Amino acid sequence: GKVAVLLGGRSAEREISLKSGNAVLDALRRRGVDAHPFDPSEQHMEALLQQGFNRAHIALHGRYGEDGTVQGALELMGLPYTGSGVMASALAMDKWRTKLLWQAAGISTPRHILLNAQSDFDAVVKALGLPLIVKPSREGSTIGLSKVMAAMDLPAAYESAAKHDTMVLAEQFIEGVELTAAILGETPLPLVRIQTASGLYDYQAKYLSDDTRYFCPSGLSAAEEQAIQMQALQAHQTLGCEGWGRVDVILDKSGKPYFLETNTSPGMTDHSLVPMAAKAVGISFDDLVLRILELAHV
Ligand code: DAL
Ligand code: MG
Repeated sequence: GKVAVLLGGRSAEREISLKSGNAVLDALRRRGVDAHPFDPSEQHMEALLQQGFNRAHIALHGRYGEDGTVQGALELMGLPYTGSGVMASALAMDKWRTKLLWQAAGISTPRHILLNAQSDFDAVVKALGLPLIVKPSREGSTIGLSKVMAAMDLPAAYESAAKHDTMVLAEQFIEGVELTAAILGETPLPLVRIQTASGLYDYQAKYLSDDTRYFCPSGLSAAEEQAIQMQALQAHQTLGCEGWGRVDVILDKSGKPYFLETNTSPGMTDHSLVPMAAKAVGISFDDLVLRILELAHV
C-alpha cells in the first residue's frame, strides 16, 4: 500500500519532526515501501484519502501531531497509523495528567505543583526545594524548560514556560542519572544512559551539543536494568500507550527511579535514542521503522 509519512506540523518541534520524518521516509524507501511525505500544516488531512494513502507513519512531534488530534482525524478516516491511539497520545502529551495517573498507579514521579500567574511562588519553592524544574505541561524537546537555582528566578521561569502553554508545571529536581527506556510493541529495549556536560538534558544537550554522551548498554546491573525496564513498560501501559514509545527516567543517588514523562512519537533521527536502543539488540534503523509500521492499527 501507499504510506504517508506525516512530518513537520505546526508545533514548536517542527524542525525536529522534519528530521525524524525524512529519516523515516528514507528508511521506508530503502525497504521498497511506496512512502511519501505529508505535512499536515500544508495540506488538509482529507487529502490523505484523495491521494490514495492506506496507512500513516506518524513522525510528528508535539501538539497537533503527537497529542491525539491527528490520531483522531486518522481514526475518522479509517486509516491505520503508527503508535498510540487518541486517548494515550493526549494523556502523554500532558505531563501533569501523566503524573496524576502514574501516582495513582504507584509509579514514582518527582513531586510537582501546577503553576499559574497567581501562584504563591515562595510556597512552591518551600514545597519542592531548590533547584526545581519549571516546564510547560504540553511541550516536547525541553522547549520552555528552566532549571531554577534561586527563588528569585522562579517568576521568570514561569513566564518563559507560559509562552508555550497555559499549563505550567513546577517539579522537584532529581539529581542523578538520566536514563531513557524505549518500548517496541510490548517489549522494553535496553536502557540508554545519558551524560550531559551541564547536568541537564535540555534542547542544547539534545540537539546542538557535541558533549552529550550516550551509553547503551547503560552500565547498570542486570537486575536494576530489568526492574526499570518493567516499570517503564508499566508506565507506558498505564497511559494506554501502544505500538512504541520512550519513557524518560531519572535514577536518584540512592538508585530509586523517578519517571518523568513518556513520549508517544519519539525522535527518529539516525542519532536519536530509540534507534540507539534498537541497535543494541541488533535491530537496524530500517528494521525499526518497518517494525513500527507493521504495528500500525486503526
Ligand atoms: N520530543 C522529542 C522529539 C523526543 O522525545 O524525542
Ligand atoms: Mg517529551
